[in-house]
Amino acid sequence: MKKIAVITTGGDAPGMNAAVRAVVRTARYCNFQISGIKRGWWGLIENDFFVMGNRDVSGIISRGGTILGTMRCPLSKTRKGMDLIVKNLGRIAPDGIVVIGGDGSMRASYEISKRCRVPVIGIPASIDNDIAGTDETIGFDTAINTALSAIDKIRDTATSHERVFIVEVMGRDSGFLALSAGIASGAEIVLLPEIKWKKKDVLKKLISFERKKSSLIIVMAEGAGDCQCLCEYLSGKSGKRVRVSKLGYIQRGGSPSVDSRILGSVLGYRAVELIKKGKKNLMCAWVNDRFRTVPLSYPARHRKKIDREMLKISNVLSGQSR
Ligand code: F6P
Repeated sequence: MKKIAVITTGGDAPGMNAAVRAVVRTARYCNFQISGIKRGWWGLIENDFFVMGNRDVSGIISRGGTILGTMRCPLSKTRKGMDLIVKNLGRIAPDGIVVIGGDGSMRASYEISKRCRVPVIGIPASIDNDIAGTDETIGFDTAINTALSAIDKIRDTATSHERVFIVEVMGRDSGFLALSAGIASGAEIVLLPEIKWKKKDVLKKLISFERKKSSLIIVMAEGAGDCQCLCEYLSGKSGKRVRVSKLGYIQRGGSPSVDSRILGSVLGYRAVELIKKGKKNLMCAWVNDRFRTVPLSYPARHRKKIDREMLKISNVLSGQSR
């Protein structure tokens, strides 16, 4: 009987549980023994795992977070940590591991794949959608919807009080979440880490909107700068009432959307199928609405690029002049 494992690492993302469920159920269908590694890489370092069956994943498809737990693990970035991971992995799951996680997890998976013979299959899961090689990551759709419903609510109070709101969304050093939430919410200004911007240009736009709009929403990615500092600058220079609202960790939680559940389910199923076919060191991806695989080296070595045309669309649709 093949012995494989599943692990969730990095920041949790809604739909990770759907992927865990799919991996476990597909593995059992193939008659593989499947171990669930707990608390991310720590579980592999400290041998914290349990053998899973179909019932362990009952009722989890609708739950946010990850039933396996996850934790940032600085030790996994050291040689000592990597050596322990590789050693324990060979014993717990000699026939393969499915790693469900973000860009850091894909880089770690690539490192593991270079150091041992255990087949490693990555599944991209992150609210940031910043993993090169896939159009979409598990959890991104849910997070945009969460951000969107918050921004829609903020719009109500912004309009009532004729205020400017700077809404900070997550995304670490990438702007995919901000761009999508900005377009979907009809934000007047979207600020991304990938595209240079100046405070004085934001002020100019704000003034140009003044007579046309009773409220103004600036969606700002957390990696795009200091929203409090921008707020003070804009209120000081424009005399307008400017407020900051940081959405924070609510964007990572909640029941996954249809899209995140289906993506998690399909990629989880495919990951086990790849191991069954003897494939190794690949990342499952979703490209042009189809399942694809890319070598694990791809997300480890490339940075996903923001679609500048989408930012232009956002700007034009906000009603700003040329
Ligand atoms: O990568 C997902 C993410 O939620 C980012 O958007 C955010 O910057 C980061 O994780 C927060 O990390 P932590 O949970 O370690 O505070």
